[in-house]
Amino acid sequence: MSLTLSFSSLALPKSGSVLLLVSQGGKLTGLAGQIDKQLKGAVTRAMKVQSFKGAKGKDLTLLAPAGTDLKKVIILGIGKVADLTETDFETLGGKAAGYLSDGGALTLCLEQELENGIGGGEIAARVALGARLGMYRFDKYKTKKKEKIPARKLVIATKSTARAKVQWAEFSALSDGIILARDLVNEPANVLSPPEFASRARALTKLGVKVEVLSEAQMKKLGMGSLLGVGQGSAFPSQLVVMQWNGAAKSKQPVAFVGKGVCFDTGGISIKPAGGMEDMKGDMGGAAAVTGLMHSLAKRKAKVNVIGVIGLVENMPSSTAQRPGDIVTSMSGQTIEVLNTDAEGRLVLADALWYTQNRFKPKFMIDLATLTGAIMVALGQDYAGMFSNNDKLCDQLDAIGKREGEQVWRMPMSSNFDKMIDTPNADMKNIGGRYAGSSTAAQFLQRFVNNVPWVHLDIAGTAMGSPKSATSQSWASGYGVKLLDRLVRSHYE
Ligand code: BES
Ligand code: MN
Ligand code: ZN
Repeated sequence: MSLTLSFSSLALPKSGSVLLLVSQGGKLTGLAGQIDKQLKGAVTRAMKVQSFKGAKGKDLTLLAPAGTDLKKVIILGIGKVADLTETDFETLGGKAAGYLSDGGALTLCLEQELENGIGGGEIAARVALGARLGMYRFDKYKTKKKEKIPARKLVIATKSTARAKVQWAEFSALSDGIILARDLVNEPANVLSPPEFASRARALTKLGVKVEVLSEAQMKKLGMGSLLGVGQGSAFPSQLVVMQWNGAAKSKQPVAFVGKGVCFDTGGISIKPAGGMEDMKGDMGGAAAVTGLMHSLAKRKAKVNVIGVIGLVENMPSSTAQRPGDIVTSMSGQTIEVLNTDAEGRLVLADALWYTQNRFKPKFMIDLATLTGAIMVALGQDYAGMFSNNDKLCDQLDAIGKREGEQVWRMPMSSNFDKMIDTPNADMKNIGGRYAGSSTAAQFLQRFVNNVPWVHLDIAGTAMGSPKSATSQSWASGYGVKLLDRLVRSHYE
């Protein structure tokens, strides 16, 4: 993944390739006009041939044109400038990197006219963010060099180089966190066991994050029978990782993020069918997002106190695995009848949420979990299901999700859904009925949340297997890191 990114002042480069942006109408102004003149109207002629009028996403490439040493002159339509959003510039960056598939250098010229309401520095940094994310590949296990991506150099030419560099420091930290989350989710489960995940989380100490790893013995002492039951069939020990970033005064109440970290979910004794089971290596997507988020926040030295808690287990069938019908006691003291060992994520989160809220008394608690297949049926792959006891947090997440392209959709919770997890044999059972599977899962979680403002994000549809885009060619999307980094930045720093 060798992409060198840099910012330069706004001018045509002398070598490599150049990417020029043309808005709706197809007028060649600024640098585009300059190069057209230099090439004796070749761009204008090519545009005519292709009926190119600057429509968003349309492009045009002139190869090694006479009159310049440039390898390629690429013209890309961007539509109406006033309509361009933050994420459009990320897409632009991803596309720019895409033009470099054979390697080499490309200069993307961001003309002044684009530097609209968003601000020049941010635009250039968003382009860089998109390029970095779009270039990401999980290719560490490819041993044949030619399949690997060649070295590429992207220069972003802007009038706002100084501001772009400041903004990039922040977005670069964000992209590190997103890429960490993607790496963790893409990593196969024979490599990323609970102890290996814990040791990768421990590496955040380098950034100043305080990391504690609770062993099974420590969790047992705390009474975490619900989490431990899930991992008891695995050869790997379960782990609870507690990460703390203290970027604000000690007296300031922290915010908390909790992640489901099922390193592999076979379903346990209630075993899953074989088809597609390999996707369950990504069942730690919530924990990966929390770890990536902690990385981003620490790297950019966010002025906030943050707690990240991840419950790491492997859900396996074996002679020591828990059985359907088993009754476990959670840290809260509430008992749970495990009627389906494949509804394990909620069992892990029950203890992780209870522990987090009681130890840290956070301002709010947001959990992320690849919790139910039902959320994919309801919402598809563009929206995470959002369940909450707090309207204000939901409104904040909704607005940020729209702007940042990591969307959420609020789902219902109700006392009727809650009743569906009652059982005669214990305080609750771990499955509802046939209906509203994502809501009954959320109700289950809420039984482990007291008065703290809380949001549960069901990311089963958004964390992995997402459709490819300019900014993600990866199976694992890294969903949630950006949404929550921006939430913290906008409202809690
Ligand atoms: N990890 C799965 C949910 C999942 C499915 C995530 C597909 C991503 C893609 C979860 O542990 C699970 O198995 N849920 C069950 C719950 C059921 C047994 C009540 C499900 O959704 O079928
Ligand atoms: Mn499961
Ligand atoms: Zn699962």
